Amino acid sequence: MENRPDLPPEIARRRTFAIISHPDAGKTTLTEKFLLFGGAIQMAGQVRAKGEARRTRSDFMKMEQDRGISVSASAMSFEYDGHRFNLVDTPGHSDFSEDTYRTLTAVDAAIMVIDGAKGVESQTRKLFEVCRLRDLPILTFCNKMDRESRDTFEIIDEIQENLAIDVAPASWPIGMGRDFIGAYDLLNDRLEIMDRADRNKLAESVKISGLDDPKLADHIPADLLAKLREEVEMARELLPAFDRKSFLEGHMTPIWFGSAINSFGVKELMSGISNYGPQPQPQMTAERQIEPEEKSVTGFVFKVQANMDPKHRDRVAFVRLASGHFERGMKLTHVRSKKPMAVTNPVLFLAADRELADEAWAGDIIGIPNHGQLRIGDALTEGEGLRFTGIPSFAPELLQTVRSGDPMKAKHLEKALMQFAEEGAAKVFKPMIGSGFIVGVVGALQFEVLASRIEIEYGIPVRFEPSQFTSARWVSGPQDKLDAFANANKQHMATDHDGDPVYLTRLQWDIDRVERDHPELKLTATKEMM
Ligand code: G4P
Repeated sequence: MENRPDLPPEIARRRTFAIISHPDAGKTTLTEKFLLFGGAIQMAGQVRAKGEARRTRSDFMKMEQDRGISVSASAMSFEYDGHRFNLVDTPGHSDFSEDTYRTLTAVDAAIMVIDGAKGVESQTRKLFEVCRLRDLPILTFCNKMDRESRDTFEIIDEIQENLAIDVAPASWPIGMGRDFIGAYDLLNDRLEIMDRADRNKLAESVKISGLDDPKLADHIPADLLAKLREEVEMARELLPAFDRKSFLEGHMTPIWFGSAINSFGVKELMSGISNYGPQPQPQMTAERQIEPEEKSVTGFVFKVQANMDPKHRDRVAFVRLASGHFERGMKLTHVRSKKPMAVTNPVLFLAADRELADEAWAGDIIGIPNHGQLRIGDALTEGEGLRFTGIPSFAPELLQTVRSGDPMKAKHLEKALMQFAEEGAAKVFKPMIGSGFIVGVVGALQFEVLASRIEIEYGIPVRFEPSQFTSARWVSGPQDKLDAFANANKQHMATDHDGDPVYLTRLQWDIDRVERDHPELKLTATKEMM
C-alpha cells in the first residue's frame, strides 16, 4: 500500500521493521550500527558478545539467562532522520521458531541481510517465505563487500531466481575485497567512499552529476571506474529501476551493497527505510480492519517474555499498537477477560535499557509488565471487542516427555511449563491418561534451551525423553461429538495450556483415519491465538 499523506505526522514518521538473515551474515553488526547512528548507544561493541564465545552452547544459555539483547528478541526504538525507528529483533538462533514468525506479524517491513560471498542461504530463504506470506516489503543489504564476494550481477540474479522477487540496485559496489573502495548511490547520484581507518565512521559522500562527471576520476582508480561505468550501464539496461509501489507491495526489493562492520552502506540503508519504507499499516481483526489513525487505542500481544529481570518474576508482554495515541496510565480493556487494565508502567526499549514510556503511537512496540494475564494474541482496546487475526500457533514437529529429576517438584514443574507455553516457547500437553506432560517444539535446540531455563529460573533439574507420540493436532467440532471422540480415544487425547483438546499420535495414517471416520470433527495443525 502506498504511503498516505493524510496520516497524523507522529504516525506517518514511524518505521517498524525486523532484520532477517542466515546466522553469521551480519545481523548483529548491522543492528549495532543502526543503534549507533540512531544515537541509542555510544559505542559499537556494547551489544554483542565476541564471535566464538557467542556461538558456544554454554554462552548461548547464559545469554538467555541474563537476557542479553543479542539473543532474546526484543524491540528497540531510536530516532533517525526525523523518523522513529522501531527495530524488532528476531531470535538469533538458527532453529526456525514460531517466535520468529510472530515477530514478523508485528512489523511493517523487513531488512534481509545476505553475505556477499554466500548469497541466499537456507535460513534467509525460510524467513523470506514467511515475509512473503504477509507481502512484507523487503529491503536487501548485501554485506561483507570488504571481503572477496561474488560478482554483483550474480548476486542479484541469485536473489531474483531463488526468491522470485524483482531486485533493483539502489547502490552499485566499486571494487571488491581488498580493492573495495565504496559504492555509487544510484538513487541519489552520489559517490560513497569507505573509510578503512575508522570502522565506526560514516562514509565520505561526494555529490556527482552522473556517471560522466569528471570528478569521479579524482576518487576512483581508472580501471575500477571503467568497470563501474560499464556495469551500471548494463544494470540499467537489464535490471528493473526502483519502483516504490512494487516494493511496498512486496514484489520488488531494493538492494544496497556495503560492509556493516565498516559502517559502510548503513546510512544509505537507513535513509532507504526513512524515505521509502512503509508507514504503520492497517491491521486485520476478525471484526474489521483497524486503521492506524483511528482515535482509540488498539494493540495486540505478539510476544511474551518471562523473567527478564531475574529478581522479579515478572513477564513483559510486547504489544504492537495498531491504532491511536497511547498515554501512560491509560485504562485499556483486556479483550479476552473483558477486564480493564491500567497500563501504568509500560516500557519502551531503548537499546540495552528499558525506559518508561509516557506515550506511544500506532506502529510502536511497548512492553507491558504483568503477572501472566497477557498472552500471545491478546487484544487491548478502549472497550471494543476485537480479535486480531493472523497470529498462528503451529503444531509442534517434535514431542518429548518431560520428567523432573526431583519428584517433589511436580507442581513447580507444571507451573514452569505453563509459563513457557504462555510465552509461546513450547507447546505443553497434559494427557488425559497418566501423569506428566508432553512438550512439543518446532526445533530440537528448543528442548535444550527449555531444560536450561527450567533449571535456572525454577531450580528444577529436568530430563526430556522420547515420547510415544510424534504428531499433535487440535480437534474441534460440536461439543457432544468431541466428547464422544475423546472418550473413545482417551489414550490419544490431551489438552493444551488453554484447555483445548489435542489428538496425539505417531502415525499420519491415524490422522487420516480420524478425518475420514469423523467428518464432523476438524483436525488442524495450527490454531489461531486469539
Ligand atoms: P549474525 O548476527 O548475522 O550472526 O552476524 P554477526 O553480526 O555476528 O557477524 C558475523 C561475523 O561477521 C562476525 O565475525 C562479524 O564481525 C563479521 N562481519 C559482520 N559484518 C562484516 C563486514 O562487513 N565485513 C566483514 N569482513 N565481516 C563482517 P566474528 O569473527 O564471528 O566475530 P568478531 O570476532 O568479529 O566479533
